[in-house]
Amino acid sequence: MQVVDAILPARAAFGAVPRPLGFVPTMGALHRGHLELVRAARASCRTVAVSLFVNPLQFGPDEDFARYPRDLAGDCRQLEEAGVDLVFAPERETMYPPGFSTSVDVGEIGARYEGAVRPGHFRGVATVVLKLLNVVRPDALFLGQKDAQQTAVLRRMVRDLDLDVRVEIVPTVREADGLALSSRNAYLSVAQRAAAPTLQRALRELYAALARGDGKENAVRAARGLLDPAATLDYLDVVDADTFEPLDAPRAGAFVVGAARFGQTRLLDNIWLPA
Ligand code: PAF
Repeated sequence: MQVVDAILPARAAFGAVPRPLGFVPTMGALHRGHLELVRAARASCRTVAVSLFVNPLQFGPDEDFARYPRDLAGDCRQLEEAGVDLVFAPERETMYPPGFSTSVDVGEIGARYEGAVRPGHFRGVATVVLKLLNVVRPDALFLGQKDAQQTAVLRRMVRDLDLDVRVEIVPTVREADGLALSSRNAYLSVAQRAAAPTLQRALRELYAALARGDGKENAVRAARGLLDPAATLDYLDVVDADTFEPLDAPRAGAFVVGAARFGQTRLLDNIWLPA
């Protein structure tokens, strides 16, 4: 496995590999969910590349950028075992040299839900992913369904900017009790970890209540009742998978989405209703 950290050597390395090239962008702190993205990429691509970069642009001033877990050596070991061919692990100054000022604004879709709670987050995500795509030039981009709005934002960017890449969404990997895998699960205390699967239970209840015809207000109230009382709900809703506009009732191709805080840790989850 080759590890590169500078733009020009990375371009040369990515340009020379057998195609198709599958690309998995990550912020490191890898878990089984990331390895599932790698496995999906390996299943359909001759070469697999992964980026490891904790992107400062997508963190708000009061968020966890400084304490976000970083373990380059451990991540590389896991990727090598998983059969990854190339890793791009740039420093902050490589991605954002002095004077850097351009960003990608994805519009309304990036301003709802996660975008409302974390202003500027999706501008940061879209900007870094566009830069990474420009360096790696993959045939396929693999994203996890756990970050449903991120997948919608990036699919929007790929369409709007005519990027020549196929976007593949890989189902969420869960613990046995239903908790979606996330690098941020590592922050949870024992009590918060025990409470965290109630977010998925609330999403399931919201879906069930809407599916049996309850109005949205009642359905959200019933779902909220299943969330651990110590957690703080940011939102629970059913949305169009492409636009992330709220819907009154679930329909094929929609997402039931939710986010809640367990102590200082925000967790997201969703249920996709296949088209
Ligand atoms: O999902 C993530 O880990 C990040 O948002 C991404 C896509 C790697 C961009 O920094």
